[in-house]
Amino acid sequence: MAVMQEKELLCKEWLKKPKKLLINGKWVEPKSGKYFKVYNPATEELLAEVAEAGKEDVDMAVKAARQAFEDGRFHRKMTAAQRARCLYKLADLIEQHADELAELETLDNGKPINESKYVDVPATVETFRYYAGWTTKLEGETINANNNFFTYTLREPIGVVGQIIPWNFPMLMMAWKWGPALACGNSVVLKPAEQTPLSALRIGELALEAGFPEGVINIVTGLGPDSTGEFLANHDDVDKIAFTGEDKTGQKIVQASIKTLKRVSLELGGKAPNIVFADADIDAAVKGAITGIFFNQGQVCCAGSRLFLEKPIHDEFMSKLLDRVGKMRQGSGLDETTQIGPQVSKEQQERILSYVDIAQKEGATLACGGVQPEEHKKGYFVKPTIFTNVKNDMRIAQEEVFGPVLAVIPFEGLDDVSEQANKVRFGLSGAVWTRDVKKAHKFASHIKAGTIWVNCYNVFDPAVPFGGYKMSGYGRELGKHSIELYSNIKSVWVNIGD
Ligand code: NAI
Ligand code: MG
Repeated sequence: MAVMQEKELLCKEWLKKPKKLLINGKWVEPKSGKYFKVYNPATEELLAEVAEAGKEDVDMAVKAARQAFEDGRFHRKMTAAQRARCLYKLADLIEQHADELAELETLDNGKPINESKYVDVPATVETFRYYAGWTTKLEGETINANNNFFTYTLREPIGVVGQIIPWNFPMLMMAWKWGPALACGNSVVLKPAEQTPLSALRIGELALEAGFPEGVINIVTGLGPDSTGEFLANHDDVDKIAFTGEDKTGQKIVQASIKTLKRVSLELGGKAPNIVFADADIDAAVKGAITGIFFNQGQVCCAGSRLFLEKPIHDEFMSKLLDRVGKMRQGSGLDETTQIGPQVSKEQQERILSYVDIAQKEGATLACGGVQPEEHKKGYFVKPTIFTNVKNDMRIAQEEVFGPVLAVIPFEGLDDVSEQANKVRFGLSGAVWTRDVKKAHKFASHIKAGTIWVNCYNVFDPAVPFGGYKMSGYGRELGKHSIELYSNIKSVWVNIGD
C-alpha cells in the first residue's frame, strides 16, 4: 500500500498548477481571489486549491456563453459534422489521457483505480462518442396537416445551459451533461461538485484542445448554497438548468427556476428495491446485491439499498452474502487490489455513521460493519455495512444513506413485496432476480422506477435512457431522450394556399 502511495503520480505536475475558472476560452482567476480546498479522501491530505466563482464570475461565464450562442459560432456557423468532430476529438483526447484521468478521479473521489480505469473513463469516452454521433442525426419533420400550408419543424438548441453535478461520478456526470447539450449546439456553464472538481478542470483543458469555439464551454468551480451553484441556478440569463444531486437541492433548483421559467431536468436520489425471489440463481443474486450496494462505496443514486429476500432463501442468501462481503478488500483507491475505497468526504462519512445509529435505535440488526475500519483510521472509510430484520418503514429503508449500507428486508410472496417495493418516495431504479419470465416482466412493469434490471444490476449504456419517477426527478438522460432535454421544437407554417 505504502509503495503504491509513493509511486510517482502521473498527474503530479498538473496538481501543482493553479486551478482557475474556464470562461470564454481562457483560464481566469476568480474576481474575489478566493480559493477552496480539495482533499484526498483516502489520506485526508490537501490535493489542490480551486477557484471559487463568485457572482461576478458566474455572470461573466453566462455572458460568454450567451455571446457564443447568439452569434451562432457553434450551432449556425459550424456544420453539424464540424460540431461532431469537436466531440469525437474530445473523446479521443480523454482516451489518450485515460491513465492520468483515472488516477486523478481516484485521488479526488477515492474510488478504486480499477473502477476509474475500467468504468468511469471508458464510459465517459463512449458517452461523448455516442452524442458526437447524434450531432449529425438531429432532424425536424414535415407535417401534412393542411394543404394550404407547408408546415415543418426545426429542432433548435435551447441556448445557455447551466449544469450542476455531484461528486460520485465526477467525469461521467460531466459527459452525461455535456454530450447531449453540445451535440444540440447549446453553450454550457458547468458547476462541478466542490468535493471533486479536478477531472472537470483537466477535461476542460482537453476541450480547448479539441477545438470547441471560445465561450461554448465554461467551467465555474465553487460551492453550492450561497455560492457558485446557487448563483448559476438563479441567473436570469440561463435558459436551462440540468442538475444531479440531493432531492432537497433539486427542490431549491426548481424554486430558483420559477422567475424566468427556466427549463429544468433533475436526476435525484433513490432507494432502489433489489428483490430476490426464492427461484432465483442465488449465487448470481448475491454478486448482484454486492455490486448493487457496494459499487462506488454505495455512493450511487441507483444503489440497490433495500434488499428484499423471499423468506425460504433468506438464511442461505445471508450466509453467502456475509461471507463474500467479509472478504472485500478495503483501502486506498490507488491500490490496484482495493475493491472498496473511502467515502468522498468527512461529511459523508459522518452522515453514513449517523444512519448506523438510527438503524440500531429503530431495531434493525447490525450484521456486519457499521464502523470505520480499525486498519484505516486515516481517511473517510466506512466498513461495508449490512442490516437485517429491517422493516420497510424504518428510516434506514426510506432515506438515502448514500454509502455502503444495505438494508435487508424479508418478504413473503409476490403481493407482499409488490406493495413494499413501491412504498418509498423515490423511483430511480429497481431490480428483480428470478428464473420465472412471467414474474420478471410483471415486476418490470409494476415497479415505479425509471430503470429496472432483471437478473443483473448497474448495467448502463449511453444509448439507454436513465432517470426517475416520483422524487427521483424528471427528464431522461442518455439515449435519444436526452436530446429532448437540450433542444426546442419550433413549428414553421408557410402559406402556400391560393
Ligand atoms: P447536493 O445536491 O447538495 O450537491 C450536488 C451539487 O449541487 C454540487 O455541485 C453542489 O455544489 C450543488 N449545490 C448544492 N446546493 C445548491 C444550491 N442551493 N443551488 C445550486 N447548487 C447547489 O448534494 P451533497 O450535499 O453533496 O450530498 C448530500 C446527499 O445528496 C448525499 O448524501 C446523497 O444522499 C445525495 N446525493 C445524490 C446524488 C445523486 O447522484 N442522485 C449525488 C450526490 C449526492
Ligand atoms: Mg448539499
